[in-house]
Amino acid sequence: MIRFLSRTDPETLRGTVLLRLDFNTEDDWRMRAVLPTIRLLAKYAGKIVIISHRGRPTKPFDKKFSLRKNASHLAELLRKKIIFIDHFDFHKAGRQIATAPAHSIFLLENLRFLPGEEKNNPKLAKQLASLADFYVNDAFAVSHRANASVAAITRFLPSYAGLELEQEIENLTMAMEKPRHPFVFIVGGAKAADKLGVVRFFKNKTTWFLLGGGPANTVLALRGMDVGQSVKDEDTDLKAIKKIAAYRNILLPVDLKWRRNQILDIGPKTAVLYAKTIAGAKTILWSGPMGQIESKRFSKGSLALARAIAQNRRAFSLTGGGETVMFLKKMHLDKKFSFISTGGGAMLDFLAGRTLPGIAALEK
Ligand code: 3PG
Repeated sequence: MIRFLSRTDPETLRGTVLLRLDFNTEDDWRMRAVLPTIRLLAKYAGKIVIISHRGRPTKPFDKKFSLRKNASHLAELLRKKIIFIDHFDFHKAGRQIATAPAHSIFLLENLRFLPGEEKNNPKLAKQLASLADFYVNDAFAVSHRANASVAAITRFLPSYAGLELEQEIENLTMAMEKPRHPFVFIVGGAKAADKLGVVRFFKNKTTWFLLGGGPANTVLALRGMDVGQSVKDEDTDLKAIKKIAAYRNILLPVDLKWRRNQILDIGPKTAVLYAKTIAGAKTILWSGPMGQIESKRFSKGSLALARAIAQNRRAFSLTGGGETVMFLKKMHLDKKFSFISTGGGAMLDFLAGRTLPGIAALEK
């Protein structure tokens, strides 16, 4: 059984908490999503030690991947001092934490500077555990990784799921288990392969899959269309994609926007057709944009779908993934969704029915 922070007697939350967050985004939307958890812990816990990763550094202490800037930004958002620990001398860090005034908040440098993190190394987990009395995971976006600060750590400290993680579990489970029909699943983005497992899982649950981006190009190519240099999946098992391409509940673009020999968006007719399907839906899942949303010209398809979702007030709508979320925020449409997941790969894995090591570790 997972111990949820929201259902825990605050009296038991005294002492120092090791709080795993995910600051792995260019902007601060993931940071803002966990502010309620930090505020709750700031009220009850003695001290907070925040841990996170950022990017995929290949050498230790590469400045490009440092969390120092995140510390100052978090301080601005919380209007509290954040003490940045820029080293991994755990004895020294322990003393620093123990001698700091009550209610101090710390942020430790990027955990991925340590080789043990991604290896789920128990020694590292134990060292991290030595800094605190209990542990909270509010980093859904990295919970699909068996990392030391996400999985192994729970062997050494009483562990809880944070407020944001709880929201993720509740909302994604609802979409998986009790979708109201018609259920529309929009599948786009660059990496078709990542989406396959999810499409397979939802085959019999979805009324319509609306395909765009890489997944659409892959299926169109399989059906014999020349997609030129467009993004498509080349690596995945062809047999598996062929099966998916034959699903009867897949809708494909009827027109496309090209630049030179690349498909960069769905066309206006497709946008209207997809928007109509969305208007009648009662559950809408959206994973991955329809085109190259960095460019105004090729984001029209995604914008049309986002607007259609925003106008459908009856539906439960859910999306996630950095690119899509940043686009929705830019268009001021993010608040119109029932739920925005902080996860990219984690959301896809959860929706595909896979076990997430970070969540499984909290269940033990
Ligand atoms: C994410 O951004 O999806 C998570 O932070 C995980 O990052 P990773 O894909 O580099 O493990």
